[in-house]
Amino acid sequence: MGKQRLSVFGLGYVGTVSAACFAKTGCTVIGVDLNPVKLELIQAGQAPIVEKDLPELISAAVTQGSLRATGDVGDAISSSDISLVCVGTPSHRDGSLDVSAVERVCLEIGEAIARKKGPHIVVIRSTILPGTIRGMVIPALEHASNEKIGQRISVCNNPEFLREGTAVHDFFNPPKTVIGSDAADAVDAVAALYDGIDAPLIKTTLEVAEMVKYADNCWHAVKVGFGNEIGNICKAAGIDSHAVMDIFVQDTKLNISPYYLKPGFAFGGSCLPKDLRALTSKGRALGLELPLLNSVMPSNRVQIERAVERILSYRRKAVAFLGFSFKAGTDDMRESPQVELIERLIGKGCDMRLYDRNVNLARLTGANKAYILETLPHIASLMTESLEDAVAHGAIVVVGNGAPEFARVPALLRPDQILIDFVRLAGAEALGERYDGINW
Ligand SMILES: NC(=O)c1ccc[n+]([C@@H]2O[C@H](COP(=O)([O-])OP(=O)(O)OC[C@H]3O[C@@H](n4cnc5c(N)ncnc54)[C@H](O)[C@@H]3O)[C@@H](O)[C@H]2O)c1
Repeated sequence: MGKQRLSVFGLGYVGTVSAACFAKTGCTVIGVDLNPVKLELIQAGQAPIVEKDLPELISAAVTQGSLRATGDVGDAISSSDISLVCVGTPSHRDGSLDVSAVERVCLEIGEAIARKKGPHIVVIRSTILPGTIRGMVIPALEHASNEKIGQRISVCNNPEFLREGTAVHDFFNPPKTVIGSDAADAVDAVAALYDGIDAPLIKTTLEVAEMVKYADNCWHAVKVGFGNEIGNICKAAGIDSHAVMDIFVQDTKLNISPYYLKPGFAFGGSCLPKDLRALTSKGRALGLELPLLNSVMPSNRVQIERAVERILSYRRKAVAFLGFSFKAGTDDMRESPQVELIERLIGKGCDMRLYDRNVNLARLTGANKAYILETLPHIASLMTESLEDAVAHGAIVVVGNGAPEFARVPALLRPDQILIDFVRLAGAEALGERYDGINW
């Protein structure tokens, strides 16, 4: 654990816990707040918020002299090398984010840094939308300090993942530590604050770090909403929801796992759409409102719309579509969103060639051959049996599913061809402007 000198701006839930815990790890910490009552409480060794284990930490740190509080920004900046910005970012009435406290504190910090010698790192811990650091924090610091960021002054984002109620425990046992910055030295200095804390340390860009916090919290909100809607159905149907979810969470392969969480394209197939429709229809029959579950099919349709628009935006008619069963390794064409997309593109006048190793008419037999010939004859006539032939046809080449053989598609492309990828093939980004996806 380090001996760094920190200033912490904003002594609310995040700031107080950070101040006390970093003091515990050996840092010298100065807390700053606009609220004189909070300053007096800390100076008296008392916690300004209710949080388990916090009073003991604050009392010990103040007694040892490793934690104090001040309203004087100049004092805090001249006595520290790293500032953690933990002020509130509440909602405006229209739901948009109010970052005025972050801006104000950055202006104050910038002015104070201008009056001191030596480097200073400003770390944003408040939750801020992607782009806020580059669009607001850095300009505010540059304006107030009259200096360009990146030489003496550096900026990092270090989002906060603690839960109120167990925040002190979470500080010492975090799920991860994320540090976003353009400045490698500053990242290392902030990472050193977490030496000895056993958690994955992830160094990334400012914008990814800013966005991760929102992906996390929105996911947590979706999880709660999902669990409750399943509970609503269970209660109405006389089923024990906890018995159901206790089994649900035991599945760490498909349910509580990274599976199904990578942005790409719409889901489909013979099960997910059918079962979602059946359960939401059952919910309607039970007189239940299930806004989250009811929104999933519309959300899925939006992905197909986005794909249509993206492909048509290139204004090229010849399209090669590779992989049109809903996922790799199946010949099941029922409710394939890829097929729906192909039909939409045909309707818009695209000249299509289709390839899917598993939906090869020459090899198909039985039910699926009959299904394709009877239900999708317009598609059957556009299918080719060679990946190379299909690729050669397209001014635009779409990779529709994750069949392993598509890994060689980038190498097959001519310089005039565009690749639109729904699975994010490894290495395809090297195509630069000729590479596109609907979710990246
Ligand atoms: N509460 C949580 O569990 C939690 C968890 C993760 C992230 N966050 C995020 O962290 C940020 C802080 O949240 P919080 O719950 O600690 O907020 P909070 O409202 O409890 O505390 C914010 C503090 O900032 C102070 N402040 C405002 N302007 C100031 C200024 N110019 N100078 C100094 N102090 C100033 C306020 O007086 C207040 O004490 C928010 O962006 C929040 O979204 C909160």
